[in-house]
Amino acid sequence: MPDPTALAGKHQIRPLPFQPARLKGLSERLIVSHHENNYGGAVRNLNRTEQELARVTKDTPPLVVAALKERELTFANSATLHELYFGNLGGDGRPAGAIEKAVAGAYGSFGRWEELFRLTGMGLAGGSGWAILTYDFQRNDVRTFWSGSHTQACAFGQPLLVLDMYEHSYALDYGAAAAKYVDAFVQNVNWEEVDRRLERAEKMAADPRS
Ligand SMILES: [Fe+2]
Repeated sequence: MPDPTALAGKHQIRPLPFQPARLKGLSERLIVSHHENNYGGAVRNLNRTEQELARVTKDTPPLVVAALKERELTFANSATLHELYFGNLGGDGRPAGAIEKAVAGAYGSFGRWEELFRLTGMGLAGGSGWAILTYDFQRNDVRTFWSGSHTQACAFGQPLLVLDMYEHSYALDYGAAAAKYVDAFVQNVNWEEVDRRLERAEKMAADPRS
């Protein structure tokens, strides 16, 4: 029998896919702290949670199992969303390719989509959550969804563009001025990566076995 993977607690922290000092309007100190402490913390806590779940038996109180299962999903989604967030930064902020047409088709124009995406992020300012442009496989189209925590993501979606609105994403640079952070974020979007995610999602939608 191979070693079980679900309870191994062996997830690795992925390195930043760009030089943090090169982002516009987001400091190296902020990005490195966010990556090491918030994202890294999620991966480390996911590993600990899986190791605790490995010790669960039929005698474990259900409330302990429930708490561990809640933490497992929270840390797994936090790690995933942070990997996608850092993965869609490091670009020049200029949209290109099929993604531009896809959001224009869904929202009337790219400008209208961007306005609503920014406002979705600002709706979370001062609190916590994520604004996520998603390929929704249930509807075979793109949508901007809101998540007030790490666990409210679209049930059958591929995140395409992920905006972290937890205060730890901007407070070091901007205090509570979340709008300045959203401005900086859009200037650094790596639209080539977002476009690659869309391409993969459309391929899967056309042929789920691909
Ligand atoms: Fe974060």
